[in-house]
Amino acid sequence: MKLAILGFGVVGQGLAEILANQCEKTRQQTGMAPKVVAISDFKIGSLYDPNGLDLDKVLHLAATVGSLEDYPNSATLVRGLDAMTTIVQTNADVIVEATFTDIKTGEPAITHCKTAFAAKKHVVMTNKGPIAMAYKQLSELAAENGVYLGFEGTVMSGTPALRLARTALIGNTFTEVNGILNGTTNYMLTQMEDGMSYHDALKQAQEKGYAEADPTSDVEGYDALYKIVILANTVMGEALTPDDVERVGLKTLLAAEIQTAKQQGKRWKMLGTIRRTADGMKAAVKPILLDSSHPLSSIDGATNAITYSCDLAGDITLTGAGAGKKETGYALLSDLVDCHFFMEENRKVTNQ
Ligand code: HSE
Repeated sequence: MKLAILGFGVVGQGLAEILANQCEKTRQQTGMAPKVVAISDFKIGSLYDPNGLDLDKVLHLAATVGSLEDYPNSATLVRGLDAMTTIVQTNADVIVEATFTDIKTGEPAITHCKTAFAAKKHVVMTNKGPIAMAYKQLSELAAENGVYLGFEGTVMSGTPALRLARTALIGNTFTEVNGILNGTTNYMLTQMEDGMSYHDALKQAQEKGYAEADPTSDVEGYDALYKIVILANTVMGEALTPDDVERVGLKTLLAAEIQTAKQQGKRWKMLGTIRRTADGMKAAVKPILLDSSHPLSSIDGATNAITYSCDLAGDITLTGAGAGKKETGYALLSDLVDCHFFMEENRKVTNQ
């Protein structure tokens, strides 16, 4: 399995670190033997070697000088390919899409996916944009071209929120899904319960690296809203769009309301919810007051959690990290393993 990584920021490097350190363990467990042949990043540079790149050297350069310029030359090394050329012209079978996405348009990642599918290449990614904006179109295109589309890390990073619902809980109808899907706002609420101001709590969440580059997406609920749209489309089979989701930002909640709830043994949580009702799907992201008995009320700090209300299996709650370099890198690894099995299956069918 030959990989091209588009975007070599925290997520791309997180995956590369895992591959550099744990390739042998994963090969023994799954039979998957990935090799990174290309990295394309508009900031730190681009490398392509059809025989594979030395990940230890790449990671060292990224961490120390923030540029791939000093990566040693060889007869097969090509430098400077942009993302589109990397997709089309390299010998990679799988494109790891980890570029920065404009969440309003899903671009350029949507175009990267379409280009990869047309070139019969698989895609794994953690970008929310393309799945929230164009899941139906992209999943159909992937199927038409006989390639794999992986997106586990778009919701709750390495905590397998999507795979749990799509595989382990198969056969259930989800009547309701409720989740704490944004670490920044849950961290802020936890700090504000202890008396910290909204602004100090946000500043701390930014310092700890939980918040998006522009934290508006976190505090106004857009980040959780896109995750709700992804859950509705990929887990519940409902073609919900961002405009269908009611959204209320965290700022509407007063510090006094948080303290009053605390005195009553209750907690405000920024919840993403999707419900099947007689009038169709109802989805929202907003602060909701929870009793202490609610399974999501005890989730503290930047931790995420999701409860699937299943018609057969009952309520099932999963809790874990919603962000992080290693965790999001792991989400990509889990998609790569799934893609490996998909490729093996295809090979068997072709050989029959
Ligand atoms: N800013 C996001 C959060 C990161 O706080 O959860 C993961 O999408």
